[in-house]
Amino acid sequence: MSSYLEEFRPPHRILMGPGPSSVHPRVLQTMSAPVLGHLDPYFVGVMDDVMEMLKMMFHTSNPLTLPVSGTGSAGVEAAFCNVVEQGDIVIVVVNGHFGNRAADTASRVGGDVRKVELNWGDAIGPDLTPLEDELKKHNKVKAVSVVHGETSTGVLNPLPEIAKLVHRYDALLIVDAVTSLGGELVDMDEWDLDVCHSCTQKCIGAPPGLAPISLGPRAVKVMQERQSQVQSFYLNLSTLQTYWGDRHQYHHTAPISMIYALREALRMAMEEGLDNRLARHARVAAGLRAGLTALGLDLFANPTYRLNPLTTAVVPEGVDQAKVRGRLLNDYNIEIAGGLGQIASQVWRIGVMGGSAEESNVLALLSAMERILPEEGYEVAYGAGVAAAQQAFAAAG
Ligand SMILES: Cc1ncc(COP(=O)(O)O)c(C=O)c1O
Repeated sequence: MSSYLEEFRPPHRILMGPGPSSVHPRVLQTMSAPVLGHLDPYFVGVMDDVMEMLKMMFHTSNPLTLPVSGTGSAGVEAAFCNVVEQGDIVIVVVNGHFGNRAADTASRVGGDVRKVELNWGDAIGPDLTPLEDELKKHNKVKAVSVVHGETSTGVLNPLPEIAKLVHRYDALLIVDAVTSLGGELVDMDEWDLDVCHSCTQKCIGAPPGLAPISLGPRAVKVMQERQSQVQSFYLNLSTLQTYWGDRHQYHHTAPISMIYALREALRMAMEEGLDNRLARHARVAAGLRAGLTALGLDLFANPTYRLNPLTTAVVPEGVDQAKVRGRLLNDYNIEIAGGLGQIASQVWRIGVMGGSAEESNVLALLSAMERILPEEGYEVAYGAGVAAAQQAFAAAG
């Protein structure tokens, strides 16, 4: 019998990488519900529920709030291709791999990209002079792009002050909330964000496959007044809105089962309460950081701007980053990730996102690290990591 005829049995892993995170059985079960037509009245009700709950997630009343088909990268592309036209100046804040990715995407849709580069591990702010200096250089800047939670470095870039500055220069603020939405506060209306996009597979707790996006009034106006047509048929938000909005006009066949999954994951988030959910991410992240620190590991991100859903720990001198990850996966069923870009071999990236943001996962990881690291020649005080994490959980209440 060739292997593809064997029973399909993927292993149960503890997913503590940068996403996907563990998906709750309730969400997985929803995906096995009968597939409906994409214009079926029952399914239209599902779409309405999803849009309603996404607005709550983004803290917005923006009518143009929907999940684009595709992973987080589809959201990045949709953000840029709908508001940027050929030759528009787009300033991209780069303090990690996904800032660079945004710059690349913006230039592919014709943007004249200017990067504001910062040290990886640092955040943009509180001093916004480098961004303001770049804004001052141009007559008209179309948009400024910032990654809220930089998944390569574990930094959370603060947004409200950036939004005020960007609007003083009459530009749009485009925010990548792929790693933050559902695990950190994203308050689109209060912070006055123009475009904000995310994914389903991290703090929202559904499988990968959809990219929620929301556009505020300034961005919608820019989109409506554009001179050239949006290059992408698939990601054109004006026509997508004719499907998701009241007209329910066919655009492309919606990924029905994924939208069921998103509905259930959002419903679970509403049941938990958004504040409780953020507090859970903060508490679990605090325990993880305390535990790693007690093992003697340095944390990479600037301590003032640490991202709760993702922590970067510096790999100690002489320890093989990939080997430790392999041991965790093969012997303990725990997935964590290595670094990206210029810090690829220097850090481990450890996620506590959505269903993976559980105290028990952190304790399992720390106790596994306490066994593996000494075998790799890095001595740790056995039990210290777990004890420190438990103290931090208790202190966080
Ligand atoms: C901040 C950020 N932006 C964009 C992406 C791209 O998302 P995806 O891999 O789901 O396409 C990621 C993926 O990890 C990310 O972390």
